[in-house]
Amino acid sequence: MKACVTGGTGYIASLLVKCLLEKGYAVNTTARDLSDNVKVSHLLELQKQYSMRENQLRIFQADLKNEGSFEAAVAGCDIVFHVATPVNFGSLDPENDMIKPAIQGTLDVLRACKKAKMVKRVVLTSSAAAVSIKNSKASSHEHDLVVDEERWTDVEFLASEKPPGWGYPVSKSLAEKAAWKYAEENHIDLITVIPSLVAGPAITSKVPSSIPIAMSLVTGNESLIKILKSMEQESGSISITHVEDVVQAHIFLATKESASGRYICCAVNSSIAEIVKFLKMRYPQYHITTDFEEIPAKTMLSSEKLVKEGFHFKYGIDEIYDQSIQYFKEVGILQK
Ligand SMILES: NC(=O)c1ccc[n+]([C@@H]2O[C@H](COP(=O)([O-])OP(=O)(O)OC[C@H]3O[C@@H](n4cnc5c(N)ncnc54)[C@H](OP(=O)(O)O)[C@@H]3O)[C@@H](O)[C@H]2O)c1
Repeated sequence: MKACVTGGTGYIASLLVKCLLEKGYAVNTTARDLSDNVKVSHLLELQKQYSMRENQLRIFQADLKNEGSFEAAVAGCDIVFHVATPVNFGSLDPENDMIKPAIQGTLDVLRACKKAKMVKRVVLTSSAAAVSIKNSKASSHEHDLVVDEERWTDVEFLASEKPPGWGYPVSKSLAEKAAWKYAEENHIDLITVIPSLVAGPAITSKVPSSIPIAMSLVTGNESLIKILKSMEQESGSISITHVEDVVQAHIFLATKESASGRYICCAVNSSIAEIVKFLKMRYPQYHITTDFEEIPAKTMLSSEKLVKEGFHFKYGIDEIYDQSIQYFKEVGILQK
């Protein structure tokens, strides 16, 4: 089996590439800039490790903004994992920095899959940001406490109110919707995986952006705590999943014949106040700020569909934070 993983320089995609190689897949992956030795170093390492094996890793240059650039990486693959997406929370021009490239790039990858002819299934990494954000001005009884795959983020609300960071959830929602439309019109077997906030150790040389957000209550980073707070406010919970479970869910869904449609992938539904209580108990050595009020009603992102399909989550909140703390010690963000 040969798989393509877009954006191999990223947090989730890099581990997906590694796990696919370990499972015996030949893998094509993509990077925007092949000459960026820091960003591609883990890929070059894997390439070296698998150079004598039948299932080798090939790295292609491709950019979501350059039409047709994914064709070479997708050609000859049985499964395509489209993971890459522009992430720029501080953007002053989300339309051009995130929304347009996410939609156009997703359609471009799907067009390459159609052209390649032998792609059996496409797995697109969507996000909880595409399902869970609601109109904060609507009265609370209008919000479901259990959120499943039927739900979509309120894009009209985000686009009109433009709360901080609005471009990312809009880009993920519109890119996933465009993918469903294209797949239906062109008879592509598409699955979307919808992870919550992801944490756990990375194999990339730079620390990926989602781990410091999940770890902000431990590090005390004020600006990241603000992002965490706005996530809680907009979606009604802080929901976290270990990166390895997210990667395994992608592979599970790619190969499970009965799978179809969208799949939420979320191991832990919690709130800032609950996580603070947990962190203070488990890691008394850290100074954890306790100045957070419990939210009145917590949203539950439901992974029931994924679990019913036969998937088992391996990691809970204990392992997610134990391993993220260990990782932060190894990269020098926390003291050993
Ligand atoms: N991490 C989370 O908490 C989380 C939660 C839910 C969903 N997701 C989804 O999971 C996927 C991966 O996220 P991640 O956390 O692994 O993100 P990441 O580490 O920031 O990786 C993003 C990847 O996309 C690539 N990329 C960005 N703009 C591109 C462009 N114009 N052309 C080609 N490639 C481009 C990046 O390449 P460069 O290295 O060159 O920038 C990088 O490889 C995304 O679809 C994200 O929405 C993530």
